[in-house]
Amino acid sequence: MNDQIEKIIFTKEDIKKRVKELAAEISAEYKSDDLIVITVLKGGAMLSADLVRELDFPVTLDFISVSSYYSGTTSTGSVQIKKDTDINVKGRKVLIVEDIVDSGNTLAHLIKLFALRGATDVRICTLLNKPSRRVTPVDVNYIGFEIPDEFVVGYGLDYDQKYRNLPYIGVLKPEVYAEK
Ligand code: PRP
Repeated sequence: MNDQIEKIIFTKEDIKKRVKELAAEISAEYKSDDLIVITVLKGGAMLSADLVRELDFPVTLDFISVSSYYSGTTSTGSVQIKKDTDINVKGRKVLIVEDIVDSGNTLAHLIKLFALRGATDVRICTLLNKPSRRVTPVDVNYIGFEIPDEFVVGYGLDYDQKYRNLPYIGVLKPEVYAEK
C-alpha cells in the first residue's frame, strides 16, 4: 500500500499526539457530563477508537452510518441513514465523531437530526477539516487538522474502500486513480 502513496501529510505520531490533545480538551470541557459519543461509520471509526480511550470520564458509545448523494464530485446535500443509532439521545449531550468535514452536508444533517430527537447539546469532533470545500456552514467544535483541498486517505479515509487501515494520512499517487 505504501508504494501507492505520493506523500504523507500526518504521520502516525502526529495523529497520536493530536488525538491526545483533543481528548484533553474534550475531557476538560465535558468533565463528567452524561455524554453519548456517536461515531459516523466507516471513516470515523479510527479516530473514535483512539479518542474515547483517552477520555478520562465514562461515555456511552453509539454508531451511525449515512450516505450522501453526489453529482460528479459534489455532494447534493441529500443524506440517507443506512444504519441508525440505537440509544435514545433525548435529554443527553452528543459528540459526533467524524474523519473529515468536507461540504458540511453530512454533519449539518446529523446535527439537525439529533437536535430534533431531543439532544440538549450536539457537538462535532473531526480529525480533518477542509474549509475550502464547505457548501453548508457547520460549526465544528474540535478539529484535529485543517487541510487544503487534496484527496487524502488513511486512518479511516478510503479510496474505493481501500487504504482505511493506513496508520497515517497521505495523498495517493495520481496513477492509482488513473487505473480505475
Ligand atoms: C465521508 C466522511 C463524512 C462525509 C463528509 O463519508 O466520513 O461522513 O463524507 O463529507 P461532507 O462534509 O461533504 O458531507 P463517506 O460518505 O465517504 O463514507 P465513509 O466514511 O464510509 O467513507
